[in-house]
Amino acid sequence: MKTLVDKLIENRTLTRDEFITLINSRNEEISEYIFENARRTSEKHFGKNVYIRGLIEFTNYCRNDCYYCGIRKSNANCERYRLSKEEILQCCKNGYDLGFRTFVLQGGEDGFFSDDDMCDIISQIRQAYPDCAITLSFGERSYDSYKRFFESGANRYLLRHETADAEHYKKLHPKGLDLENRKKCLYHLKEIGYQVGTGFMVGSPYQTVENLVDDLLFIKEFSPHMVGIGPFIPHGDTIFADEKPGSLELTLFLTGIIRLMLPNVLLPATTAVGTVDPLGREKSILAGANVLMPNLSPAGVRSKYLLYDGKICTGEEAAECRVCLQKRVESIGYKIVVDRGDYVPEV
Ligand code: 5AD
Ligand code: FES
Repeated sequence: MKTLVDKLIENRTLTRDEFITLINSRNEEISEYIFENARRTSEKHFGKNVYIRGLIEFTNYCRNDCYYCGIRKSNANCERYRLSKEEILQCCKNGYDLGFRTFVLQGGEDGFFSDDDMCDIISQIRQAYPDCAITLSFGERSYDSYKRFFESGANRYLLRHETADAEHYKKLHPKGLDLENRKKCLYHLKEIGYQVGTGFMVGSPYQTVENLVDDLLFIKEFSPHMVGIGPFIPHGDTIFADEKPGSLELTLFLTGIIRLMLPNVLLPATTAVGTVDPLGREKSILAGANVLMPNLSPAGVRSKYLLYDGKICTGEEAAECRVCLQKRVESIGYKIVVDRGDYVPEV
């Protein structure tokens, strides 16, 4: 099995069958071998630095009804909110003072915010914080909308593909949403010039090892600047309420593989990983992740942005999370840096 890992390191990919073998026959020893190499790879590109991104969850209204997601349209128990432009700018200010140099505007697909509204918000953040990166993450929009946001000052966009298998995609989403459009959006974003992030859930209902391998191969082909993965976690108000959560162990294994496939990719230790295990984020960094994305949203709305049950940090203030993360990162010998943490192409 080690020879397969060595081949992955050398070629930065494997064949479909080899990936299937690697995942199916994984054990502690092979995981550790992957993690050691993934850490070495991260360290080569980023040293012991961990980048932080301040997440601003600015709306939990969503027109979509994804079967797994707690803020899906048909969840009548979800108390909806929107932040005003002033509140968003206040989050940025708090974040800036805490050392954040990337702001992530994340939200449901909320038709209330027109392109003009978003351009206005983006350009005000751009003006107030010329030294910061602005990341967007609010789903599928047209090429022209994405372009306008980019021209208003946004730099990055996060849009997970969720699963690279069209049939599996249909089992996770209602009619009207399809993988093809998702991918089209990703290619549009790249063409426009965004640093683009994609990713998927590990252990989502109906997912097979073959699906996961297709996720890896799609990621290789698309070659994103960022990859976000986390375990699926059921939400009690969705039709997947009784499904079992994804495993931390497999999430970490895939984190290591992704680091070896894309050595300089920006790879967050996600909140979902921290939710399934109190030390999940530390373990993820030790498996090759190099980014943390704590919440900057006002404390009053945090518990309303629940994509899944048990989400951590819904009671803490941004400053508390900042201190907490500092301690966690230092406890494993890494450090948080005040830096935009842009994608740096390999030379
Ligand atoms: N469990 C884990 N991750 C989820 N997401 C949405 N719902 C869940 C869930 N129940 C992820 C999706 C989405 C990202 C913002 O959160 O991958 O793209
Ligand atoms: Fe939020 Fe630890 S990161 S409390």
